[in-house]
Amino acid sequence: MALNDFDLVLFGGSGDLAMRKLLPAMYSRDVCNDLPPTARIICVGRHEWSQDEFLHSVEKNSKPHLKAVDQAAWAKFIQRIVYVSLNATDASTYAPLVEALRDDASLTRVYYLATPPHLFAKICDNLAATGLATANSRVVLEKPLGRDLASAKQINAEVGKVFSESQIFRIDHYLGKETVQNLLALRFGNILFEPLWRREWISDVQITIAEKIGVGNRMGYYDTSGALRDMLQNHLLQLLCIVAMEPPTSIAPDAVRDAKLQVLRSLKRFTPTTLAQNIVRGQYRAGHVDGAAVPSYRDEPDAPAQSRTETFVAIKAEIDTWRWAGVPFYLRTGKRMHDRLAEIVVRFKPIPHSIFNQPNNSFQPNSLVIRLQPDEGLRMNLMAKTPGDGMRLKQAELELDFKEQFKAPRMEAYERLLLDVLRGQLTLFMRGDELEAAWDWVEPILNHWEHEDSMPIPYTSGTWGPAASSALIGRDGLQWREEA
Ligand code: BG6
Repeated sequence: MALNDFDLVLFGGSGDLAMRKLLPAMYSRDVCNDLPPTARIICVGRHEWSQDEFLHSVEKNSKPHLKAVDQAAWAKFIQRIVYVSLNATDASTYAPLVEALRDDASLTRVYYLATPPHLFAKICDNLAATGLATANSRVVLEKPLGRDLASAKQINAEVGKVFSESQIFRIDHYLGKETVQNLLALRFGNILFEPLWRREWISDVQITIAEKIGVGNRMGYYDTSGALRDMLQNHLLQLLCIVAMEPPTSIAPDAVRDAKLQVLRSLKRFTPTTLAQNIVRGQYRAGHVDGAAVPSYRDEPDAPAQSRTETFVAIKAEIDTWRWAGVPFYLRTGKRMHDRLAEIVVRFKPIPHSIFNQPNNSFQPNSLVIRLQPDEGLRMNLMAKTPGDGMRLKQAELELDFKEQFKAPRMEAYERLLLDVLRGQLTLFMRGDELEAAWDWVEPILNHWEHEDSMPIPYTSGTWGPAASSALIGRDGLQWREEA
């Protein structure tokens, strides 16, 4: 579907996200001829830069992040960019933005707030005060969407005073990843899985997002956030929702979001006792990643010497519904891990009886591995007969490599999500009540950590996290997949 002509306004337009992700994503779409010829990107920042100075900064800070550069296409792309300098918190400085925007109600207008969340309400107020929050405009909210339930509610309430829910796009970039959408295709485009997708046939689910990178130069943000807020409350819970939700009646935004909301509301809440048993938090220490020595979290630039912020978290969660009662969902994320890996593993129950001359426990239960990163694919593990004489069964793999199967070029998550915002397609964005339900579940954990004395468990960089994480799942007789 061709896009309507648009003005895309990036608040935080000279910031890291705009340079590393948003402008490169728009460039890629431009190269693929998805952008209308007169569509523009208006970058808003505080620096009093001229247009040329800003474009110089784009050249230096954004261009290196392009997947491939075609000089002619790049030269054409940067002509779409307009730089506007203003103080986002002061409506009296908005005149240059009013001037830069085209006054045409038939255009799509998007305000992308790639700013710290405490500015969201003020910017929305200022857009309203200057007459820029029109009925044909949309607002995109970048994470972190609050730091607890109260702040998330406040963001929802304040942004909601200016924009209606159908105009608000809350980004979780994991939903823009190809394999996450493929999980929807797998579950609801095939008859095979849905009858088995329940407690009678599934024994447990693992969801891992492991990163090799450390905190880098984001200490200011990260140390007040930690892995639970930065990754689990949003990305991991969104993946959990897509795995566990009831079949929505359609792919329409509210059908999907209602189904996800039901999962979030059905998550078993932790009490101080269950919390201590089912959650492990860790913090990385010096070690080696890919053979290179890396420092301890507490020795990273600007790290507080006694920081208690977790860089790793593993949780055993449960969903209190008829479909999922008793099925553990093990969630895990960490920085400075052994490998970069994002995957969902759905393990099925063991066969009830072996007819072969082989003991039951030599049969690996079937499992489905949905791989998001580094490569994208699906793997079904089955038992098969080994060739030759006799009847000996061994695990074999059915593999679907998306890159091999579909030669079409891939889209980065932000490309897909930006296109959806410009089309007004809300399915891959979180609704306000979903956001609040996710914070509501996470909040007792945050409160507990804040009020108790314990520290995150140290783990060596380049490992799979604290031994307690293996013990958490080991208690149920299981192993994390890469340790199996
Ligand atoms: C972001 C987090 O939301 O996701 C980062 O703030 C993290 O800390 C990043 O590194 C991971 O995203 P991806 O797409 O690289 O897995």
